[in-house]
Amino acid sequence: MKISVIGAGYVGLVTGGCLAEIGHEIVCTDNDAEKIATLEAGRLPIYEPGLDGVIAKTRKQGRLKFSANPVDAVAAGDAIFICVGTPPLPNGGADLSAIDHVARLIANEARSPKLVVEKSTVPAQTGQELKRALAVYGRKSKVEFRVASNPEFLREGTAVEDFLHPDRIVVGVDDEVAEKQLHEIYRPVLERKFNCPFHAPSPCPDVPPPAWLVTTINSAELIKHASNSFLALKISYANMLADLAERLGADIQQVTRAVGMDSRIGGSFLNAGLGFGGFCLPKDLQAFVHLAEKSGVDFSLLKEVEKINKGRIRHVIEKVRRGLWVMKGKPIAVLGLAFKANTDDVRFSPAIDLILELLAEGANVRAFDPEASEKARDVVPQVKISESPYAAAREAEALIIATEWKQFRDLDWQRIHDAMTHPFVVDARNLLSGPEMKQLGFEYYSIGRPD
Ligand code: UDX
Repeated sequence: MKISVIGAGYVGLVTGGCLAEIGHEIVCTDNDAEKIATLEAGRLPIYEPGLDGVIAKTRKQGRLKFSANPVDAVAAGDAIFICVGTPPLPNGGADLSAIDHVARLIANEARSPKLVVEKSTVPAQTGQELKRALAVYGRKSKVEFRVASNPEFLREGTAVEDFLHPDRIVVGVDDEVAEKQLHEIYRPVLERKFNCPFHAPSPCPDVPPPAWLVTTINSAELIKHASNSFLALKISYANMLADLAERLGADIQQVTRAVGMDSRIGGSFLNAGLGFGGFCLPKDLQAFVHLAEKSGVDFSLLKEVEKINKGRIRHVIEKVRRGLWVMKGKPIAVLGLAFKANTDDVRFSPAIDLILELLAEGANVRAFDPEASEKARDVVPQVKISESPYAAAREAEALIIATEWKQFRDLDWQRIHDAMTHPFVVDARNLLSGPEMKQLGFEYYSIGRPD
């Protein structure tokens, strides 16, 4: 099928690239002409494992094109996926002006029937507004529009795999034609009929195919917010358990492992630490609380989830203070800047929030991240970005692990011990083993585990 993708951010690029990978003809546009020029030059504006290969291959095969002209993009597709940003407003609600702008563009420029698919995360009832906007702005052209909601559940760092091997595909529609069109679009994924860039040349693992869930548009929109908020809730629950484990002398990892083995609960998203960040979970949670309030529902449970998450930074700062007493003027190394491992994204990163607190205390912060250093430089220019974890640790009086990069586990910790003035580590992601660190001579604190 011919498909246009509007918005070339994380969601748009993964969606466009993967739809091309499974056989569709894609034109992807963005109002940032520089971004399109970068993509046309064969470079990616983001780091996402596997995406470079998918984009290079599908462009070479002629199935993926980039265009800085949104009018051409609208003309090209029978279906149009809206993948623009919905950033938070000061009141916590989602800023839907980019969606409105795209609705106007599609309504003004479409000359043939279009299936308009909301991929961006939006509050429930946005689909209704989108339909209305398309009808109002497009009243002269009389083009037929169908609207659908198809929320993404892509995690940064594994987004390509998540797209091609999802647990479920949710489509919110209010007519059968839209459902059929979306089914046709996703058929290769549902039937596993594509050359999987991960598992090729071997066949994909023999796991059940994704569930195909057809819902109303309102339900689909609600599913997205409900899923992300529940994940946030699980993390905050684990973080509170960690605080309790610290007080009671229990080990949070033993507790959450056992709790998560109950299939009714599930083991993922129970890692205690510095809390959740990134461009989705915090903003979606906020927008969901705002939506609930607007709808007359006091979802105070989720307000608590947010509050607990904000408190994680202070919790870690207090641990640092325990080892250093005064932080002013002291060199502190921070390992990790990205909001989680396997991404270069520093938006709403707890590591950055932690660094800002350390700076406010007058600490002299140096930091290292395997992928996010460049992006962090713009956000915290006052921090010295080190070229290696060992350089960051040199003569440091404390070292904090702020992002769960696996490679931090495999560092030469003896070398780090010898490089530091005060071998004192706060492991805010529970990456390392307490007894091993103690054996190396570190003063070592982690989260929810015996110190
Ligand atoms: C999330 C959702 O998972 C995805 O479905 C949605 O579409 C977009 O938002 P992402 O933002 O890529 O994906 O990050 P995710 O893997 O969910 O992690 C979010 C944050 O939670 C990170 O800061 C991570 O470090 C933290 N986290 C995650 C924990 O603190 N503990 C955990 O157990 C899991």
